[in-house]
Amino acid sequence: MPRDKVILAYSGGLDTSVMVPWLGEKYNLDVVAFTVDLGQGEDIEKIRQKALKTGAVDAVAIDARNLFVDLFVWPALMAGAMYEGKYPLATALGRPLIAKLMVDTAKEHNATAVAHGCTGKGNDQVRFDVTFQTLAAHLKIIAPVREWKMTRDEEIRFAQKHGIQVEATQESPYSVDLNIFGRSCEAGVLEDPWDEPPEEAYAWTTDPCKAPNEPAYVEIEFEQGRPVALNGQRMDGVPLIERLNDIGGKHGVGRIDHVENRLVGIKSREVYEAPAAMILHEAHRELEFLCLSKQAQRFKTLVSQEYADIIYNGLWFNPFHQDLFQFVLSNQRYVTGFVRVKLFKGKATVVGRKSEFSLYSKKLATYETGDQFDHESAVGFIKLHGLGQQTQAKQQLLKHGGFELPGLLRHEDKK
Ligand code: ARG
Repeated sequence: MPRDKVILAYSGGLDTSVMVPWLGEKYNLDVVAFTVDLGQGEDIEKIRQKALKTGAVDAVAIDARNLFVDLFVWPALMAGAMYEGKYPLATALGRPLIAKLMVDTAKEHNATAVAHGCTGKGNDQVRFDVTFQTLAAHLKIIAPVREWKMTRDEEIRFAQKHGIQVEATQESPYSVDLNIFGRSCEAGVLEDPWDEPPEEAYAWTTDPCKAPNEPAYVEIEFEQGRPVALNGQRMDGVPLIERLNDIGGKHGVGRIDHVENRLVGIKSREVYEAPAAMILHEAHRELEFLCLSKQAQRFKTLVSQEYADIIYNGLWFNPFHQDLFQFVLSNQRYVTGFVRVKLFKGKATVVGRKSEFSLYSKKLATYETGDQFDHESAVGFIKLHGLGQQTQAKQQLLKHGGFELPGLLRHEDKK
């Protein structure tokens, strides 16, 4: 009798390789391995072949880099989504896309289950499971690591028993995840938040102290909040991000050291590298300062925070996300222009910006000849601006002879 099928998110590492025979033994399922390229820099065809050698009945490999950038990374950038003001959300953005593509693959292969290699302690399991649950509630979700309780040695023995080749490479002391928008590193010595991350925790960036002594400049063009060109050359999102990662990394830009609030209630110390993400967020924000009104800009910060939480918490396919994104689209319609960023010794600093929709008016701002600001109207404006406070002072604050700073006793009361 043919067995039911499970779509397994397959990375080619030890865990997900062991899962291939394990899912057969434990759940009597045939495995269709699923691997996706989100710009993590691995050869997905090689991984696909390994899956087949490992006993998968079928193996699918998809290059989803363009989808990822256009439909996940750019919206998050336009929204200014930066979790806790620090983490540009690379992994969190990738999970809902992987899960969505797995659901599509499950349909094509008539699979009844999906499986992934997440542990029971992280955010990623939530992002996967919530997406599966939302898009295809009929699929059984299996997370072997959450249930199998094997140590690494036991896993290796299990692998050898099933003829799975175990790479001789020393196991990394860290848990690393990456895609085109960033790399994360946790565990090992990073678990003490007082200790400075060792150089070996970084892979994409030069130590800022050792970065070139000459700065590099990049010019990014945005159209309605989306990056469309780099240094005068129009290009797709994938090469644009790749180039910024490369040059930013050389200048030590994009290192982030964060004690992060996970969805499952624990704080975790994470080290990120995200040169392109940091440069783009910085540039984009500065263009907004030029093109958004004060109200639009202030309100946008609330949306940014909400948006980041939605992504981080695995709620990408939530209708509320669509509502927020409609706001973002509208809010970004004049965020079009050029930003020049200086990369130097670990810092990305915006040093120039221009836009056809700029709200900056030199005629109003200048202290030199050509000033068109109406200085006299300031007097009347200030009178009304302070009127309420003036009335209150006369009737209340000054009545008993003094003005108290909140929390401070008046000098004479102390005696
Ligand atoms: N803390 C980050 C997040 O929740 C990164 C997670 C990385 N995942 C991993 N399996 N190492 O998005």
